[in-house]
Amino acid sequence: MADKDGLQIAKDYQVDVPFAQQGDFHVKGAKNLDWGMKKHLTNIFNPETGKTVMFAFDHGYFMGSTKGLERLDLSIPPLAPYVDVWMATRGALRTCVPAGLKCGVALRVSSGSSMLNDDLSHEVVAVDIEDAIRMNADCMAVQTFIGGDGQLSSLDNLSKVVNAGFRYSIPTLGVVAVGRDMERTDRFFKLATRILAELGVQIVKTYYCDNFEEVVAACPVPIVVAGGKKLPEEEALTLAYNVIKGGAAGVDMGRNIFQAENPVAMAQSVYKVVHEGMSDKDAFELYKELKSK
Ligand code: 5RP
Repeated sequence: MADKDGLQIAKDYQVDVPFAQQGDFHVKGAKNLDWGMKKHLTNIFNPETGKTVMFAFDHGYFMGSTKGLERLDLSIPPLAPYVDVWMATRGALRTCVPAGLKCGVALRVSSGSSMLNDDLSHEVVAVDIEDAIRMNADCMAVQTFIGGDGQLSSLDNLSKVVNAGFRYSIPTLGVVAVGRDMERTDRFFKLATRILAELGVQIVKTYYCDNFEEVVAACPVPIVVAGGKKLPEEEALTLAYNVIKGGAAGVDMGRNIFQAENPVAMAQSVYKVVHEGMSDKDAFELYKELKSK
């Protein structure tokens, strides 16, 4: 065990130096992976832009019915043209999302908590690798609770999924959870994202923070950023803009799309920021124009 007192504070992130092991594949940290993994990652990250718009609507797995997601069958399909990847549970996908829509799948495979508990940090792996294969999942999403009560069990869940993923060439998406009492600092996110990458995930989902560029530089796999609590649309587009500018490989946005006044217009505007480098100001103008049609 490393002597914690002897550890030096990391500071040399060289944020302006590109990732040195990119090779000829468009996804960070993936150049040495198997063909099947690369194929799934290409279903997630657009090979032309290297970026992704993941749309998260897996909230029901612990929140039940949520504002904006009351009727998945009605609200989800119209978003498909502006979404690269659905992040969802197998129940939501099988019942409410036509398989014919051309979106990748980030399948939520951990569960076990609910809004009725104070401590949400204890989960299990709820979906067999066989079912992830049947669902044609492009990655499997596992919640992790670094620094929380459920740290050990969540990293055990994560490692089991990473191992199964390597057996069948399905990437794992490690989700950094922030508990009520956990700090949302770059120090925490550098720790959490790096732990997940070193445990073998191919993608990390985390939150935006100060010094975000350093979090990205220190993480050898792509980072996608959660939207978090609902913000006014203009601020949510600024968040999307800042995370892309800060080096994220995309967003994994939920409430800021499905709780927007016009979710389809919002998804379309986020897509422009992520894939076309549109500024947040222009994207907000676009949002207002699309909303008024
Ligand atoms: C839960 C998740 C959710 O998918 C995610 O937080 C939802 O996105 P948003 O925060 O943008 O509503 O991973 O930890």
